[in-house]
Amino acid sequence: MKTNVTSHQDDAARVVAREIAGLIRAHDAAGRGTVLGLATGQTPIGVYAELVRMHRAEGLDFANVVTFNLDEYVGLGAGHPASFRRFMDERFFEHVNVPSGSIHVLDGDLAAVDVPASCADYEAAIAAAGGIDLQLLGIGRNGHVAFNEPGTGRDSRTRLVELAPGTRADAARFFEGQGATPHHAITMGIATVLAARRLRVLAFGAHKSSIVRRALVDPVGPDVPATFLREHRDVTFCLDEAAAGELPQETH
Ligand code: GLP
Repeated sequence: MKTNVTSHQDDAARVVAREIAGLIRAHDAAGRGTVLGLATGQTPIGVYAELVRMHRAEGLDFANVVTFNLDEYVGLGAGHPASFRRFMDERFFEHVNVPSGSIHVLDGDLAAVDVPASCADYEAAIAAAGGIDLQLLGIGRNGHVAFNEPGTGRDSRTRLVELAPGTRADAARFFEGQGATPHHAITMGIATVLAARRLRVLAFGAHKSSIVRRALVDPVGPDVPATFLREHRDVTFCLDEAAAGELPQETH
C-alpha cells in the first residue's frame, strides 16, 4: 500500500491522469486495449479534466479504451441530471473518443426482476474485457467504496444495495431534497473492485480526513469497507494535505 500526499488536489489529479495516459499509450504500443474502472463524485473531476486536456492538447487516444463505471442510482434513468451516466457523459465521455460501445455504466432503470441478470452480465463483461487494468476510486464519508456501505463483506459482487442514511443526506444536494434522493443503487462489489490490477483511491479535503484515517488505520473489515482496499497488492491512496491531516506520521 502506498500513500501519496500532495499539497493541492490538482497535483494528485495530474499524477493519476498521467499514470492513466501512460498505461493507455504503453498498451497501444503493445497492441492491446486498456480497461479503466471509473468513479463519479466530486473527487475524480480533476482527473477527467486532465484526461480531456491531454486528449485535446496531446492527442491522447481513447479509441482502444474500455470503461466500466462503479455504480448507479436506481430509478433515475440515464438522462436524469443526477444520474452517474449523465455525470460521466458531461465530465468525460462527450469530450474524448472512447467508442460508445466500449462504455459500460450500470443500468439503474430496470425492473427489479431484471436487476440480478444485469449485474451478472456486468461482471461477465468485465471478465470478457480481460479485467480492469486501473480502477479509480473515491471514499464516502462513512467509508463506503462505490456504494458498498458499512456492513458490506469482502466477497461482495455487483448487486442492488440500499443506501445508508448518511449517504442519502450527502447526495441530497443533487436532488430536490432528501425525499427525492434514491434509496437504492446498483454497485460493483468489494471483490469486483479488488480484482482490478491497480487501484488509485482519491480523497481530498478536510471533510475526508477522519474517514481517510479510519480507512488506513482501522482494522480491515466491513465496518469501514474502504479498509479492504489496503489488502490490494497495487493500491495508492492519493491525498491532499487536508485529507491526510489526521493520519499518523508513519503512514505519510
Ligand atoms: C458517492 C459514490 C462513490 C464516491 C463517494 C464520494 O456516493 N458512490 O463512488 O467515491 O460517494 O463522493 P465525493 O467524491 O463526491 O466525495
